[in-house]
Formats: sequence, C-alpha cells, structure tokens
Amino acid sequence: MVRPHAEENPYPLYARLRELGPVVPVHFAGAAPRYLITTFAECAAMLRHDAVGPLSEDHFDETYPTWRQQVFAHSLLRSMAFRNGADHRFDRAMLAKHFSPRRTAARREEIANLIPPLLDRLEQRATSGEPVDVERELAVPYSAMIIGRVMGIPDVRAVRIGWATRQSGPTLELAPSPAQRQRAAEAGEQVWHEMSALAAERRLRPRDDLITDLVSQYGPDQERLISNLVLLFSAGFDSPASVIGLGLRLFLDNPQQARLVRDNPQLADTAIEEILRCEPPVQVMFRVAIREITLAGVTIPPGGILLGLVASASRDPALVADPDRFDVTRPPSGGLSFGGGAHYCLGAHLARLSGSLLFPRLLRRFPLMQPAGVGTYRAPGLALRGFERLPVSLLPSGGLRRSSIGGLDKPSVDDDPTRSEVAERRHDPRRPMNLLTVTEVAAMLRVSKMTIYRLVHAGRLPSFRVGQSYRIPAEAAAALFGVLMQNQAG
Ligand code: HEM
Repeated sequence: MVRPHAEENPYPLYARLRELGPVVPVHFAGAAPRYLITTFAECAAMLRHDAVGPLSEDHFDETYPTWRQQVFAHSLLRSMAFRNGADHRFDRAMLAKHFSPRRTAARREEIANLIPPLLDRLEQRATSGEPVDVERELAVPYSAMIIGRVMGIPDVRAVRIGWATRQSGPTLELAPSPAQRQRAAEAGEQVWHEMSALAAERRLRPRDDLITDLVSQYGPDQERLISNLVLLFSAGFDSPASVIGLGLRLFLDNPQQARLVRDNPQLADTAIEEILRCEPPVQVMFRVAIREITLAGVTIPPGGILLGLVASASRDPALVADPDRFDVTRPPSGGLSFGGGAHYCLGAHLARLSGSLLFPRLLRRFPLMQPAGVGTYRAPGLALRGFERLPVSLLPSGGLRRSSIGGLDKPSVDDDPTRSEVAERRHDPRRPMNLLTVTEVAAMLRVSKMTIYRLVHAGRLPSFRVGQSYRIPAEAAAALFGVLMQNQAG
C-alpha cells in the first residue's frame, strides 16, 4: 500500500485486503502496531467507538519528528480535527452554525452563479481545439471561491490560497517522500501566512463574515484561531476540488450515466453520493485506540494505530450490491465518505450542494466532452485521492469532420457525379426541409442553444445565415447526433 507515486486504480488492492479480513494487523519494526480496517461495518464501528480518538502528538513525534517546526502541520494537528471530548465540542459548536443546512441552502444561487463564467472560461481555453485541464480551469477555482465566500475571502485571493493548499496535501499523507513533505511544508506555510494575515485584517477592520466571527469568539487564543482557519480552508477546499475531477472521470468512463444526469438533472443528488462512494477523496481515516478494544474479534492494545480504509469500506459488498458499478440512480448508500461519529464532516451539506449544482451544468454544456490522454493523479495519493491534472477535449477531436457529413462533403469535381445537387443543397436556403433552426437542433441533441451557437462560431458545425439567424443542415445535425450517440455508447 505504501508508495510515493499515485495508484491509478487502488480498488483491486482493497478488494484483496477485504478478503484477508475486516481487521488486518500490520507490524513495522520499532513502531506502534497498525491495523487496517477494511469493511464498512468495522470502519463505522471504529469511527463511533468511545475508546478510539484522533491521532496524538506522540504519534506524530514518532512518524513526523519535525512537525512542531512546520507551521502548517503544527496548525492542522492543533485544530479541532485532532481534538477530543469537550475541547472538540467547543470548536465544533463555534463553527457548526456557519455550515448548517439552512445557511448552506441560502448560498444555492450564489454558488450556481459561479458556474457559467467558469464554464465559459473552460470553453474559451478550448477554442483552439486543444485539451483543457479541468483541475486548473474548473476544480481549483470553483472550490476555492466557494469556501472563500463562506469564510469571507475575496475570490482572487481564495484561488491563490487554493493553489497553495493543493500543494500542501502530502502533509497528512501516510508516508510521503522527504521531497513531497518538504514541498508540502513550504506550500502549507503560505496557507498559514494567508490565514494569519486575514485574521489580523479582520481584527483591525471587522466585517460581517465567518473569519470576523471566529476572531471575536476566540479572543486572544491566536493559535487556536489560526489552526481552525487553516483546517477550515484546507478541508473546505481540498476534497470538494478532488471530487470534481474524480466525478467527471467517472462520467467520462460511463457515458450512459452522464447521459442520465444530463437528461434528468434531478438525479444530481444521488449522483454526487455515488461519486463519493465510488471515489472517496478521503480514502483513509486515521485513529488511535485510547484503551484496549476489540474489533471483529481482534484485540487492539492501547496506542494501536487504526487505518479506516474508507475507499475499501465504500466498495464492501455488504454495503451495496455490485459495488464496483457506478450507478447514479442508486439510492444513497449511507457510506463513510464524510466520515462518521464526532468528527463527521462539518461541510457535508456544502460539499453536496456544490457538487450537485456543478455536474448537471457541466455535462449539459459539454455533451461531447472526452478524456484527452491520461490524467495524472496527485501523489502519493494514499489518504487523499484526486487528480493533479485531468485533460479533456470539449468537442470531438478535430471537431465534426466534414467527411462525416453526408451531402456536405467537399465534392471533388472528378469523383462526385452529384456535385451540382450537393452545391445546390449547400447554398440554397430555399430548401427549408434540409435546414433546421438552432432551436430544433438543440432539442434534437438535447443540449442548450448556446452549445449549438458555440459549435457554429467555433467552425465545428456547418451553418447558413438566414437573415439574423442561423440554419443548420439536417445532415450536419444528424452527423453530430451520431457522434454524440457514439460517445455515449462508450
Ligand atoms: C466532497 C467533499 C468533502 C469530503 C469528501 C469530506 C470528507 C471529510 C471526512 C472524511 C472527514 C472526517 C475525517 C476524519 O474523521 O478523520 C471530514 C471532516 C471535516 N470536514 Fe470535510 N469533506 C468534504 C468537504 C468539506 C467542506 C466543504 C468543508 C467546509 C469547511 C469541510 C470541513 C470539514 C471539517 C472542519 C472537518 C473536521 C470535523 C471535525 O473534526 O469535527 N469538509 N471531511
């Protein structure tokens, strides 16, 4: 399991681990014993067990001896994610009101409004026909702006912090290489500085936002304030950003499921649950046994380290039938992708909302999207899974090739006996039976009119100007329909 590079498909390994048992002890010389928790029931029990808690500072002294000198690691490990009992409840209560279902639902329109400009930008980057990187153009800015707005950070600054946060990911990985750890520490330091600066700015000039609220609630306890700001931005940005690439890749690999969501946007809610089940961005949750416990008949001594393999639990056949199948119509599985017990994800409502708003819009806007080469997964990617880069092309390669359009092939004088008829069809708008309006083509292809206009303007769909509007040759529309069907059939 432990390796410095990302594993493209870790799920067969998790299936083999489940065969070994629900609790698999692993021993490393000189270290506290570790236990892999592979099944859904045992993972859930572990998260809710009252004698199991977050990893302690002693553990990090053993595995990450320099953590106290790294401001980012230090902050995260002092945040509420690593606190227990009353301390944890105090922090959680302070933050929870900002993430309630009501407060989150009130942001629906604001979040939805972020999407069209980002999709426009994605398309502009693709006008030359070049692949675009979904991570760079969409996942990072969208997720950074959302958590930025919730916290009260202006968009441009939030995106800058988002990029630094992304590079800081290996901080909480199982066994990053020294170089990965070093880069993560440097990027994390930027995040820490940004959060400290924001807190100082709000102390000086209070605003009506989350940061100002926390500044006043924590009073002089600067370390606790910055720790929880660092946690909030990191947790609120990292997994939501990962889910976009991971989810899109599932749709690109399963075009029938993409079509279902495109045609039935109301499936967005179950789709996001299914994405999170099949590809949980948090793949492993770490815990320590506070006193001796027994899980699935295995006795775990105090100090034993537990690795809850969420990525394995989500594909446990005891949780859902046919677990490797991505099925957006599946009722929510009640899996553990947002954790469980006292540390259950604080931003689950927000994450669900932002994902369910994005996917139907993305899939409808670019129905012909395809993967463009292999994406790169973030490394080491054991605990936190996602793409580093996910290149896609928004239109079929080379656009709609003219040779695929029946009567519109450019005829050669020598080999086309019907050239006069073709020429007539190409140029005579008085043949209305052959020409469709943009509205008709959009309805036929089940895409927006804007998509058709874009294809026309990009020179990807032949058209004629008739007065102020366009007409699309029926053959061209039919050929595009064929490409679409082919894509969807996989
Ligand atoms: C798809 C997106 C997300 C996923 C998959 C996710 C997953 C998780 C998981 C698995 C945990 C528990 C970790 C553990 O117990 O070891 C967690 C905790 C947490 N998440 Fe999320 N999260 C997401 C989005 C968000 C968002 C948008 C926020 C907003 C701020 C957020 C804030 C937090 C916080 C603060 C905690 C710590 C809670 C505590 O310790 O009590 N998460 N998340």
